[in-house]
Amino acid sequence: MSDKHDAGGVPTTGHVWDDDLGDFTNQPPKWWMLGLAASAIWCVVYFLYYPSIPVSNAHGYFKGLGHWTAITEMEADKSVVDEVRGKYEAKLKDMTPAAILADSELTEYVTRSGKVLFGDNCAACHGTNGVGTVDKQGLFAPILRDDDWLYGGKIDDIYTSIVGGRQGLMTPHKGVLSDQQIDDVAHYVKAMSDEGKSAADTDSAVAAGKKVFTESDCTACHGADGKGMQAMGSANLTDKVWRFDGSLEGIKQTIANGVNAGPDARIAVMPSFQAAGKLSDAELKKLAVYVYKFGGGQADAPATK
Ligand code: HEC
Ligand code: HEC
Repeated sequence: MSDKHDAGGVPTTGHVWDDDLGDFTNQPPKWWMLGLAASAIWCVVYFLYYPSIPVSNAHGYFKGLGHWTAITEMEADKSVVDEVRGKYEAKLKDMTPAAILADSELTEYVTRSGKVLFGDNCAACHGTNGVGTVDKQGLFAPILRDDDWLYGGKIDDIYTSIVGGRQGLMTPHKGVLSDQQIDDVAHYVKAMSDEGKSAADTDSAVAAGKKVFTESDCTACHGADGKGMQAMGSANLTDKVWRFDGSLEGIKQTIANGVNAGPDARIAVMPSFQAAGKLSDAELKKLAVYVYKFGGGQADAPATK
């Protein structure tokens, strides 16, 4: 070996390659050896404590000395969750939706489970997060996020909608009114929404339509001002919000064929979730609060328990 490669007396294995390459025989540091031994022991302990051998005795596998299973662990976790929930669920039972809404802690709890309930039971028709769903007639099921309500946006109105279901009924007018009258009144309805009623003073079709509107049965359900009545869900015809197709042709269709009144009618049926029996009382309340909390809910008189 040349001086350049002198290893300073450290012992080597004695093998020499390429004339001058040798292997030292140094031990790894002591801390490293201890670590190695400790991890070997850990392996054995772990192996014995937990289920480790998939096949062995009559039970099918070696259960481990600690008898640990994922199921007992899950059940322990679940009982913690149930305990927390139980407290809220017990309270909910005797409370009205309005009273729940007045309690911010409960509202937060209810909103969280309401999200799941809504996804499972309502989103198919009302869309994820209540954005509404559309089909060829217009909205298949109304938007629940806005502050435009057919049946009212107070917490109790929303609750009633969910519990009992809703079916807007508008009688068909073909046969009752002439085609010309239907055409005129459609012009008037469109003008009420788009331009305000004063349009009747300038446009002759609109003026004729106004006469049909006031003299036929429209006002009985939609009111003299056309603003609708929430008790029966007769749409407000003066806002720019259209439940069904809001084009002139679309409006004529609605007037001629009505709503839920025959084979050609617009379809607008919200099922009753109480009659369906799928949801508990508490779940119905949760959903009412959840829908209210979309932001379109209308403030009520202060809630009393
Ligand atoms: C089969 C489709 C369908 C399902 C499922 C459904 N809805 Fe509806 N919902 C409708 C329709 C259609 C209307 C409108 C009824 C009308 O126009 O008269 C409506 C109306 C409503 C209204 C009244 C809206 C207003 O403007 O006053 C609320 C509130 C409501 N639904 C909540 C829910 C909730 C909460 C669920 C789930 C528990 C649900 N709906 C499930 C179809 C559905
Ligand atoms: C028996 C009560 C009733 C009568 C009479 C009636 N309507 Fe309606 N109308 C309703 C209801 C209820 C709705 C809402 C249906 C729904 O969305 O579930 C409606 C909806 C409408 C719509 C659709 C609104 C939208 O947002 O798409 C138009 C347009 C309309 N009515 C016009 C008329 C006109 C014009 C007359 C008179 C020729 C008339 N209605 C007579 C109850 C009535």
